Amino acid sequence: MHRLLSALLVATAVAVAPASPALALDDGLARTPPMGFNDWNAFGCDVTEDLIKQTADLFITEGLRDAGYTYLNIDDCWSLKDRDSAGRLVPDPVKFPSGIAGTAAYVHSKGLKLGIYSDAGTNTCAGYPGSLGRETLDAQTFADWGVDYLKYDNCYNQSDGSQADYIRRYTAMRDALAATGRPIVLSICEWGSSQPWTWGADVGHLWRTTGDISDNWPSLKSIIAANAPLAEFAGPGHWNDPDMLEIGNGGMTATEYRTHMSMWAMMAAPLIIGTDLRSASAETLGILTNREIIGIDQDRLGVAGRVVSDANGLMVLDKPLAGGEHAIALYNSTDVLATIGTPVSRPHRLTDVWTGAVTQARSRIEAAVPAHGTVVYKVKPIRDTGPIAPAVTVGGAIETVTPAAGTPLATTVTNRGVGSLADVRVTVAGPAGWTVTANTTARDRSLGSDESLVTTWTVTAPATVTAGSYPLTLSTAYTWGGRHRSSSASTLVAAVVTPPAGGSRHLSTVRAADFTGSIALDQTVAGNLITIGDHVYTRGIGTTPPTSIRYYVGGECSSLTTDVGGSGFTVYADDTVAASSTAAQSLTADLTGAAWLRLTTTGTGPADWAEPVLTCGEPGPVQPAERTLFSFEGGTDGFGIANAGGGGSVEPATAFHTDGTAGLLVHTPVNGNWFGKALDAPLDLTGFSHLKFDMRVETAGSVGEIAVQVGDAFTWCQGGQWTWTNPGGSRTVSRSFGDISCPAGVTLDPADIRAVWVFLNTGGDVSIDNIRAE
Ligand code: GAL
Repeated sequence: MHRLLSALLVATAVAVAPASPALALDDGLARTPPMGFNDWNAFGCDVTEDLIKQTADLFITEGLRDAGYTYLNIDDCWSLKDRDSAGRLVPDPVKFPSGIAGTAAYVHSKGLKLGIYSDAGTNTCAGYPGSLGRETLDAQTFADWGVDYLKYDNCYNQSDGSQADYIRRYTAMRDALAATGRPIVLSICEWGSSQPWTWGADVGHLWRTTGDISDNWPSLKSIIAANAPLAEFAGPGHWNDPDMLEIGNGGMTATEYRTHMSMWAMMAAPLIIGTDLRSASAETLGILTNREIIGIDQDRLGVAGRVVSDANGLMVLDKPLAGGEHAIALYNSTDVLATIGTPVSRPHRLTDVWTGAVTQARSRIEAAVPAHGTVVYKVKPIRDTGPIAPAVTVGGAIETVTPAAGTPLATTVTNRGVGSLADVRVTVAGPAGWTVTANTTARDRSLGSDESLVTTWTVTAPATVTAGSYPLTLSTAYTWGGRHRSSSASTLVAAVVTPPAGGSRHLSTVRAADFTGSIALDQTVAGNLITIGDHVYTRGIGTTPPTSIRYYVGGECSSLTTDVGGSGFTVYADDTVAASSTAAQSLTADLTGAAWLRLTTTGTGPADWAEPVLTCGEPGPVQPAERTLFSFEGGTDGFGIANAGGGGSVEPATAFHTDGTAGLLVHTPVNGNWFGKALDAPLDLTGFSHLKFDMRVETAGSVGEIAVQVGDAFTWCQGGQWTWTNPGGSRTVSRSFGDISCPAGVTLDPADIRAVWVFLNTGGDVSIDNIRAE
């Protein structure tokens, strides 16, 4: 009976799928973007039944279920490494004592749903069994357990890389899930590799559009840039998935986390919480449960916000809502306060979704948006602006501040409302000890609609100021409607730079005052190690010309030395050319007496500053200090395989190296193995905080991890997992001791390291060199 039903469902799915390429999986699931929790971002492989149950409880006590969060999703590492004798996946009995079925029953009893994770490959990314070729059995197993959602990953995929192969592997799971008869959301996770937005609507309910998110601003910014233009592909039952939320994980500011939530809502993205809710702050919960923002994400029209404009790092998104209103996001990805807006043909009422403030605007929806911030308005046209306050924006810009020098600042107050303002006053407040004086008038008796008052100021920081970011508050007070006195304010962040301390250091570790163009630190803009001829550099500044980077050296620095790969590189000491290149060469620039150091690249193609070193005061050993543990110059340095039965081999090689003339070539087994060396005597790395090494990988999807063994019992501590998405690419892997987690009761004592290992897999070749501590 069961079998026959499955067969019929499979036949139906196969029959309808090819008919219309735009046909969504019209099965009633995920009509709005899925909302829930997934353990991966905060816990990695440490998922347990307890964690899922506690999080389910918190969904209720913290009001998350009421806010719309439904799915409790288990990510990688939930099963044993071996299937049972019938070929079925087996939940790890230590992590899940009542199994997935028991966990699902608990979650269901709370009115919530359970998600699980597998992989359209032979193994999951962390090396557990994958579902490729086992789709029918695994889908049925999940259905039998009461699973409601499957995240389906892409490691060990045995793929020829063609889109057809991607579609085939994910369609096989779609059909297997359909055949079970249980409604199960299918979340396609292939990192955007085969443009899943062009085929995913027929196959799954959502598809990742990018590589993994991480808890930092560059990651968030690049994911928004990649996902926002894909709006047209999303709709009820089929969503772009820019990956799970990092809100609350500590690597970004509250402003950045509000941008994360705002932009996910505007892009109609799944809202999958990725933080430890047991310790989440009130601020984190406040962001995650903002009803207005969630309402925009979950709006039943299901239209993802369209990019209305995107220039100079300022983006405007427009999301039509079911009730006729629109949500407008003004997103500032730059590092400075910016006034962002979009024209409208008649007056609108604006409700700021985060503050609740209501204003009216005549011809332009606009806001002064802090660096990395997003303002979201719900807007609708109005006939009569009546008693609604006008939208008044306060923008401003300041140059880089140096100690005790007057720096120009300009403020712009603009009346965007219908009707004039009277008695407009502007003030600027700096930190204690700073002075701010107006050079032009800071008052206006009357400011008409769409008129601005521009004021210039001089800002002086004390001679003793230390480098960093300092807030300046720009405020305006004005009278509107003849009798209401109101005010508006913005925060402008001033960057203070001071000369570097004495000694020699890699320029990539010195904070630039400002730059224009595309640059990357310690890698090329394309994300590989900087290479000139056959010399691979681990330090430097990658650029795509034209670029210009400025450093404040305040007369304290004597020289800059650097290698360059060709012509078009110029080093300026203030406005004087101190060095320039005509070919691949080493340059030395005399900086004596200069206040500013400026590096420019011109021409076409990548142009990278290789190992630039800045010397200020007395020269010395180049900072930061590194200690080489294995350099492979004399052979393999004893580096070998940890688990003899696991396969793989190593050999010395000269094709890839970052120091000396040799590195190590590792032939990895498909399921991976640990490579490294047990040390003859304990290694003392006191004073260092990171383990680093350089590698080149030929195969996308390969994953790796770092481990050290500590103490007499040689206890394993491991972590800092990475997934390789750049075939043929090279990079420096750097992991802090804090990323490497030890079993309960063990601490990673840097003074007592007994072995250093790296985990490598895919069955392909991986080159590594120069394993070191920093
Ligand atoms: C990645 C995936 C992550 C996480 C991880 C687990 O491929 O993109 O979100 O699921 O695998 O190993």
